[in-house]
Amino acid sequence: MIVPAIPTPHIEAEKDAVAKTVLMPGDPKRAEFIAKTFLTAPVLINDIRGVHGYTGTYQGAPVSVMASGMGMPSMGIYSYELYAAYDVRNIIRVGTAGGLCERVRLRELVIAQGACTDSNYASQYHLNGTFAPIADYGLLSKAVAVAENHQFKYCVGNVLSTDMFYTDNDGRLDSETSVNMWGKMGVLAVEMEAAALYMNAARFGRRALAVCTISDHLMTGEALDALSRERTFTDMMTLALETAAAVNHDA
Ligand code: HPA
Repeated sequence: MIVPAIPTPHIEAEKDAVAKTVLMPGDPKRAEFIAKTFLTAPVLINDIRGVHGYTGTYQGAPVSVMASGMGMPSMGIYSYELYAAYDVRNIIRVGTAGGLCERVRLRELVIAQGACTDSNYASQYHLNGTFAPIADYGLLSKAVAVAENHQFKYCVGNVLSTDMFYTDNDGRLDSETSVNMWGKMGVLAVEMEAAALYMNAARFGRRALAVCTISDHLMTGEALDALSRERTFTDMMTLALETAAAVNHDA
């Protein structure tokens, strides 16, 4: 495992400019919105590739927010550099996911206890079996407590981190196959980043959690409109930020 020097190929921030807890939406514009809407005194710390990173405070706790980009390779790069070079302790992904089974409904939050994947990311570890990427239990249990406290609608369970948004089979999502294959195993939702984040956290002995809003449903074909996305996004941010503020930032 290499430890990239600072600045890393993708992050130009000074080492101390990055908080020990980082929230990661997929979208750089989202990162900017989160920082400017929810953080106190946000300061721009990264602008490479337009991947804006900010550090500020939330309820007095230092928190950074920086985009992961889309997909496991991109999440893999940013979370690796944050853990290895910047000594980040906690990364919380905040994203969207497609519902895969009836247990989850549009707008609900999914707290990803585990992340199955169709990607080859784990092959780098040369294990003689299948690794099960899981969330940090401390972050997970705190997030559940926050969700209960606010009476958010949420589910805790497995997600699928897929490499493919569009597939050959049905044009966009391979919805039927995903629902049949993964839904039958109780996998709640499909997204594209959590498994890489959980594997990097495991390899570096750090903590990670992914929280997703169900923005579309593969069984029903429903999708959130812009206004509903905004509302549920605010719930997800409250969940992630209160979790971030409550964790031990040095552990
Ligand atoms: N597939 C992959 N990622 C997603 C989806 C999906 O259906 N919906 C939201 N993120």
